[in-house]
Amino acid sequence: MNRLLIATGGGDCPGLNAVIRAIVHRASQEKDWEILGSIQAFNGVLWEPTEIVVLDERKVKGIHFQGGTIIETTNKGGPFGWPVKNKDGTYSEVDRSDEMIRKLQYMGVDGVINIGGDGSQRISQKLFEKGLNIIGVPKTIDNDLSSTDSTFGFQTAVQIATESVDKLVTTAASHNRVFVMEVMGRDAGWIALNSAVAGGAEVALIPEKPYDINIVKEALEKRFYHNRGFAVVVISEGAKPKGGSASIQKNEEVGYHNQRLGGAAQRLISELKAAGFKQDMRETVLGHLQRGGVPTAYDRVLSAQFGVKAFEMALDGDYGKMVAYHHPDFTSVPLKQAIAKENLVTEDNQLVKTAKGLGICLGN
Ligand code: F6P
Repeated sequence: MNRLLIATGGGDCPGLNAVIRAIVHRASQEKDWEILGSIQAFNGVLWEPTEIVVLDERKVKGIHFQGGTIIETTNKGGPFGWPVKNKDGTYSEVDRSDEMIRKLQYMGVDGVINIGGDGSQRISQKLFEKGLNIIGVPKTIDNDLSSTDSTFGFQTAVQIATESVDKLVTTAASHNRVFVMEVMGRDAGWIALNSAVAGGAEVALIPEKPYDINIVKEALEKRFYHNRGFAVVVISEGAKPKGGSASIQKNEEVGYHNQRLGGAAQRLISELKAAGFKQDMRETVLGHLQRGGVPTAYDRVLSAQFGVKAFEMALDGDYGKMVAYHHPDFTSVPLKQAIAKENLVTEDNQLVKTAKGLGICLGN
């Protein structure tokens, strides 16, 4: 019997269940493969007692269009930074990776498929260096993983953001207002840029291009004549003014290492007011609405392709790699290469040229 364990780590993302289902379906076509799921990323293995479920065809029936992940996820802690409470109430972190690998050996697990973003794939690489047979599947709505043309979940997030721009346009036009819509995108502005182009926004502000508030103000003023007019600004949560930094929220969750972003839209409105912009403004923060719910058909197909390919990599013993989409092929790239750099919006990207061609102000 061959045993493969699936874990879903980091922020959830539409399409996770479709990947799980594809792995299970493909595995069922081979003799003697058992697929297990660890609850809440690797916590299921590390907890005492463990929380591991058997994933068979019955368990994954009809889950391809369900958002979230049936085996849950977490973006706190993990095998290399397990939080332990000290006597004084503070927390320290311990490395439990060796213990986890031993536990997996004891459970007879031959390989692991870790579905997650850059943080999760960094964990995959470290576990691989310690000798664990592991394969990565790229997941993130931010689409900031390089070495793959696209990650699943991204198209769904863009669709949700675009539909939101469409809705804001009608209320903005009715009230002669500017709407500033904040979308996810910690380091990469792909969701903002794509939804601004698709939704016909006037301004798109992304983390890669710090903005000049006077340029934004000028672009918005052009949209008004005798106080009549409207505009939509799409801003990434990680956007920042020239010389400034991203808007950070306080977060005291134990084991959470990311900076919690938020407040970029509100700050932009204050900056515009301070710069003398006179029209009415409102902000909308999309937040986790972009991560929840049903994946688009595109993301379901991409997830299915990633899942089938990941299982076939396990079948071939192709470990230490991440599944990658290089149109029209699905290949595998070393995890080390996959985490080496982020997929960021660059000045020479065709979408930047297209946005400029449409007259979208990028704030610089
Ligand atoms: O990494 C994906 C992402 O959607 C980021 O854009 C965002 O900053 C983060 O997740 C928020 O995640 P959570 O609130 O789950 O910690």
